[in-house]
Amino acid sequence: MTVERTGCGLPRAADAGETMTIFGWVDRRRDHGGLIFLDLRDHTGILQVVINPQTAAAAHQAAHAVRLEYVLRVRGQLRTRDPHNVNPRRDTGEVEMYADECQVLSIARTPPFPINEDTEVEEALRLRHRYLDLRRPRLQRNLRSRARFISHLRSVMGEMGFTEIETPMMIRATPEGARDYLVPSRLQPGSFYALPQSPQLYKQLCMVAGLDRYFQIARCMRDEDLRADRQPEFTQLDIEMSFVDEEDVFAVLERAISSAWSASGFRGTIVTPFPRLTWHQAMDRYGVDKPDVRFGMELRDLTDAVRGSSFRVFADAVAGGGVVKGIAVPGGADLSRSDIEGRLTEVVRTFRARGLAYLWHRQDGWQGGIAKFFSEAELAAIGEIAGAAVGDAVLMVADRPPVVAASLGALRNQLARERAMADPEKMAMIWVTEFPMFERDQETGEVTPLHHPFTMLHADDVDLLESEPLRIRSRAYDIVLNGRELGSGSIRITDPAIQERVFAVMGIDAQTAEGKFGFLLEAFQYGVPPHGGFAAGIERLVMEGLGEENIRDVLAFPKNQQAQEPMTGAPAPVDVAQLAELGLTVSPTPPATQT
Ligand code: AMO
Repeated sequence: MTVERTGCGLPRAADAGETMTIFGWVDRRRDHGGLIFLDLRDHTGILQVVINPQTAAAAHQAAHAVRLEYVLRVRGQLRTRDPHNVNPRRDTGEVEMYADECQVLSIARTPPFPINEDTEVEEALRLRHRYLDLRRPRLQRNLRSRARFISHLRSVMGEMGFTEIETPMMIRATPEGARDYLVPSRLQPGSFYALPQSPQLYKQLCMVAGLDRYFQIARCMRDEDLRADRQPEFTQLDIEMSFVDEEDVFAVLERAISSAWSASGFRGTIVTPFPRLTWHQAMDRYGVDKPDVRFGMELRDLTDAVRGSSFRVFADAVAGGGVVKGIAVPGGADLSRSDIEGRLTEVVRTFRARGLAYLWHRQDGWQGGIAKFFSEAELAAIGEIAGAAVGDAVLMVADRPPVVAASLGALRNQLARERAMADPEKMAMIWVTEFPMFERDQETGEVTPLHHPFTMLHADDVDLLESEPLRIRSRAYDIVLNGRELGSGSIRITDPAIQERVFAVMGIDAQTAEGKFGFLLEAFQYGVPPHGGFAAGIERLVMEGLGEENIRDVLAFPKNQQAQEPMTGAPAPVDVAQLAELGLTVSPTPPATQT
């Protein structure tokens, strides 16, 4: 026998007259002396229930004791509401149920925060009672949209001939740049599995195995510092393809994301193909490798225009091999001197720029403390190159190119936020290509891969491996949406000789490489197809699609900033016996975590 049940959010005017049973939580309760009104909520929505003591005395008595969040079964007849009582904001707003029966299935303590309002609630409290937080409409919507999006992704990947393959969760470490979460082995005491930072090596091995067109909705774990768009556990749409180049990978991602996006009713429209920028173009024009291209205010090179000026700061910077770049802030003539010299200068100082120079382009000419150092021709050239109209300001930084890029890039983003220059409904997806293969780690000084060591180098740059590794372009690419990285991928190295040279640049000798990745290198000796792939962050896609600012709002049971799960109390100490079985002891004071 199945339970007769109608979803609370489903009845409509056309159903009036029918008798039905609904189940749910009490969202609101109003006692009008005689009549009791209850709003009953389940995952489909909310229905208003009316309980009349004259016609349903027992139900009325039961409803008398009912409080918010009690779980009820209510049976009654659906009626249309009087026109002046219709609630147009609710799908069931034209109807209400007149209860004949009201049964309390479960009582509830007063919840620690309101479930029926979208009020700001302290994060710690929300996470402590996540099951209550999840009852609230916004998170219900988010998780259902997430599920719909993933299900659309699965079907479009299937349509494109991809096979979903699950790779193991207990593996040998994969180098994705973060720390691993480790799992001790009982049968091999002293040995550890790592939880996957991504399925990177397995998906490449799938290509060797001939399992072409692999995909997975893959759970990944990374022990890294958390941010608004980073969690220790997250999910990727992970893809790998054989016999492809960048164009094939791009076409698959563009189709997968744009079709699942619109089928899920996400906000805005995704236009394909996504425009492309090389990393160098992105750095040059926007100062960052994940540019928000919804607005202009691009960085312009003023070095030549100011080279001969009497402004010492610029002249010295140029003489020392630096550059001078500027942005024209539309309407920026309204920026006050104290605003620029205080707040905005602080922004560029964070990125080690020594200062922020500025000129206002006003009706009566160029103004600002430094205007006197430039000839009319120089000022005209600055205005022309920067693209500054009357009413704008030109903000400039002179320094080494990376400092200029980072500081003006951040300033550009900050000003766009403050001045609402980006259309919030616009979805500007772009490809950023040809990332540098290596970067120098600021702390250790070591040369490390920007993406990962299995990324293929740009064919024209292979010869630079030993001499100038930092100048090498790779075949790595990112998808960036409105200034946020959504995913990364690359065409992979399949030539063992090149792979060995890449490891050598990283300071990994042949023996170490053999120890760490020998299985991959060995597999490549048995016929490896050229291959490449991509991984897109599901949470970041869903966040953007729903307009959510924090990754926690698109995950059912996220961790807090300290990577704890306050509801269950994970992580938690374990029994000494359990440790002993694993051959482990815990030192009384854990060693300070290195940063
Ligand atoms: P990458 O490390 O760039 O590439 O990760 C791909 C995408 O995964 C998402 N992501 C995260 N989301 C939430 N929390 C995190 N801590 C987190 N870390 C990463 C981002 C990111 O763009 N194996 C390669 C892909 C490949 O080469 O095919 C990889 O994992 O959206």
